[in-house]
Amino acid sequence: MNDATESDRPGAARQTLLRKLFAIHPVLAPENAGAERLKQTLSVWALMAIGIGATIGTGIFVLTGTVAANESGPAITISLGIAAFGSGLAALCYAEFAAFLPVPGSAYSYTYATLGEVMAWFIGWNLLLEYGISASAVAVSWSAYVVNLLANWGIHLPSTWIHAPFHENAAGHLVASGAIMNVPAALIVLALSTLCYVGIQETARVTNVMVVVKVAVIVVFIVAGLKYVSPANWHPYIPPNTGTPGHFGWSGVLRGAGIIFFSYVGFDTASTTALEVRNPQRDLPLGIIGTLVVSTVLYVAMAAVITGMVPYFKLNVDAPVAAALDAHPALSWLRAFVIMGAIIGMTSVILTSILGQPRILLSMADDGLLPPIMSRCHPRFKTPHVATAITGIGAALIAALFPLGVLADLISIGILLAFAVVCIGVLVMRHTRPDTPRPFRVPWAWVLCPLGAVVCLTMTKFLSNATWIRLVVWTALGAVIYVAYGYKHSKQRT
Ligand code: ALA
Repeated sequence: MNDATESDRPGAARQTLLRKLFAIHPVLAPENAGAERLKQTLSVWALMAIGIGATIGTGIFVLTGTVAANESGPAITISLGIAAFGSGLAALCYAEFAAFLPVPGSAYSYTYATLGEVMAWFIGWNLLLEYGISASAVAVSWSAYVVNLLANWGIHLPSTWIHAPFHENAAGHLVASGAIMNVPAALIVLALSTLCYVGIQETARVTNVMVVVKVAVIVVFIVAGLKYVSPANWHPYIPPNTGTPGHFGWSGVLRGAGIIFFSYVGFDTASTTALEVRNPQRDLPLGIIGTLVVSTVLYVAMAAVITGMVPYFKLNVDAPVAAALDAHPALSWLRAFVIMGAIIGMTSVILTSILGQPRILLSMADDGLLPPIMSRCHPRFKTPHVATAITGIGAALIAALFPLGVLADLISIGILLAFAVVCIGVLVMRHTRPDTPRPFRVPWAWVLCPLGAVVCLTMTKFLSNATWIRLVVWTALGAVIYVAYGYKHSKQRT
């Protein structure tokens, strides 16, 4: 009834279009965000398990090798450092927001509370890339590792059913590959969506086990591989540019940072479970920053060891970690263990991505930007089951149809833009609500937040033109949905 009264006010009719589009969401308190629909069970360790579970996967097991071979050479460690620096600044901003505004919409809600509705829609739409579509991207490399493992056991699946029907040619165009669809990739997404449908507690338990296995495999690989590192493989550390921008040299290191940024996608996943955390103000900043620190240490160590074990130009393969082991027969005992670890590691990324996405959809539906069915929660499982089912089916279709490179670059560019907006949002919030107590504050915010935005935006500049064009198409699709539905149903303005 209130809604009707508000919208009937003569003043409401005079609102300009611009004001409507940039309407700011009042800061939500968790008790207003529907916390009673969900269970509050997650501790800081569970948050870190979700964060690490969502972060360490395809990036370390596949992209570290391919980026070293094509863009950065042994300086992949510098690319990882640049990406970590940008992610670290964004992580501080996420931590301030997550403690201040513990709601499941993550960057979407933070943007709504600071920069207004249109920007929030843009970020929410890009978070679909981070969660839903990154589940698809990782499922594609999961499928490649599983096919590889089965082939080792003498089981050969038909090639037309294990690859995407499109691949990207040298000019960046999608062309038919002759395959029909990637069935294993679609199946793993559907199986894990079913688990997320059943419950967060169950999901957190499975994630914990997978995270322990994945971290153990990486640590064993680093320790065992160290003995076989030949420093000669690190020379030249930054191979000279080939004459094409982005192929080695410093431009290669920077393009490598933009691509390898995909490895850090997911560290903020813990923020989407804000309504399910026992003590969100304390645990969310710890969970987010802890995840990023652990991931960075493992990435840089792993990348240094791989490029030290084999010349970087031999790493342009589906399973670079296995290739590094193959170069040293004394380490063959480790091969099956590492492949299993990679499969388990990627499984946890897919699982946690599918966990995050429906919680963002739930927030957007609560705000009226998506149909209300998206915020419906299961009476017994206490999960956003409809949004989970829709996420699972959508992500499975994309996994079946598109190749990894196309999806990974699109995800990186979308999330880099989202991180830049979050960094700016912290400053806006400091300005508009200077006195509201903050359990966690970004230190030297007026320096670090703009720096975070600049570092993230700079990385996008080095990604390929084809990736930019896909981002424009993606954004245009989001704009159509916003105009057709969200603009008319936004609760904030009506
Ligand atoms: N960061 C995640 C991965 O590397 C998406 O798999």
